[in-house]
Amino acid sequence: MTDPNRPPENDVVVIGGGAAGLMCALTAGRRGRRVRLIEHANRCGKKILMSGGGRCNFTNTGTTPANFLSANPHFCKSALARYRPTDFIAMVEAHGIAYHEKELGQLFCDESSKQIVAMLIEECRRAGVRIDTATAVTEVMATTGGGFRLRTAPSREGGSRGEGIAATLETASLVVATGGLSIPSLGASGFGYELARQFGHTVLPTRAGLVPLTLSGKHQEHYADLAGVALHVSARCGKARFDNAMLVTHRGLSGPSILQISSYWEPGKELLLDLLPEHDIEAWLLERQAAQPAAELKTVLGDVFPKRFAQRLCEVWFKNKPMRQYTHHELPNIARQLAHWPIVASGTEGYRTAEVTLGGVDTDGVSSATMASKHVPGLFFVGEVLDVTGWLGGYNFQWAWASGHAAGLAA
Ligand code: FDA
Repeated sequence: MTDPNRPPENDVVVIGGGAAGLMCALTAGRRGRRVRLIEHANRCGKKILMSGGGRCNFTNTGTTPANFLSANPHFCKSALARYRPTDFIAMVEAHGIAYHEKELGQLFCDESSKQIVAMLIEECRRAGVRIDTATAVTEVMATTGGGFRLRTAPSREGGSRGEGIAATLETASLVVATGGLSIPSLGASGFGYELARQFGHTVLPTRAGLVPLTLSGKHQEHYADLAGVALHVSARCGKARFDNAMLVTHRGLSGPSILQISSYWEPGKELLLDLLPEHDIEAWLLERQAAQPAAELKTVLGDVFPKRFAQRLCEVWFKNKPMRQYTHHELPNIARQLAHWPIVASGTEGYRTAEVTLGGVDTDGVSSATMASKHVPGLFFVGEVLDVTGWLGGYNFQWAWASGHAAGLAA
């Protein structure tokens, strides 16, 4: 418990009131640490509110380290093993929040992601955490005594209108929970990376992840008026492969399979789609040729693809004719093309619409057990600011909870 005779400083200051910062604050607060959380937006947890279409895909019951990208794929193991999806689910259930599994272990609130934010803020309140919103940290210095001195000022970020607090704070532990660069209008900033560099940490190059891909030139023209068409594909880039829906957009391609593969793709890397992943396409085309010799290819393809898409395939890429007219050389060729469909993306939609930021604070300089800096005692990094990025499907929040929890036990 808190010693009332201790001077009125902070034991822990957490910068950033997102998923990882809130979890870290409540965990440290439960240990009796005097925790102050500073958030520069006008409220905490804005990304949680936006997430999962307003229902927050708050975890994935099948989370394993294989669901994360990082220069060091082993880094996430310890924290994930010590704070599991079942731990977070227990908190959700204790707060009476109803939830359901949508697919593939993805858990969503039945009602609203507001319930998750309210739960975390209530747990912070119970743990005695002081939360200052609309407040920016403008400067951080190491003190001679081994802690940190911070200056704060009213903020105008993320919907704030300058109503925050100007103060100088001292703290023994400082937790950087400022997230990534995705969606600047929700409060995202590069402040955590600047702090990391200031204290001698390496920041690995960042780029947008879980993001729609853009097409340009003739590659866009071919798909242009197909916006809204969705199909089930298998997207492949290197060794990564995701079977799920793809959506044609006005600017390019989106949908779960494309968002997932976008985290593995970079300009210059080959990106291939299997447009009929559940079919032996060649056998199926030969069988259709025997069964429907007079049917045109676009009609046959229209049985397995949206009609507009089947028609476009036969306008741009394949010669359309009755099935009986295809030679036994042509149909295997079409089958091969459908199974290895190249996508020449011009880029991504960038941080404006990306769900996550790849790269970030190099985990080499951070303890995987506690998230503590190996260079600066008392400094911690949690959540997305670190070079750990999850797949689509609740994995990023599970990383935020697990890393926040690990630091909250140590800070
Ligand atoms: P997060 O970004 O949540 O929090 C960082 C906080 O720090 C923000 O509140 C920011 O305002 C604050 N901050 C930044 N700089 C600051 C400064 N200088 N001073 C003070 N405060 C500062 N994941 C998932 O698992 N399931 C899902 O359903 C979704 N859905 C989803 C939808 C959308 C639209 C987005 C953009 C993202 C998702 N995600 C997701 C990803 C998930 O939201 C993300 O990985 C976590 O929120 C990361 O948590 P952090 O706490 O690390 O950062």
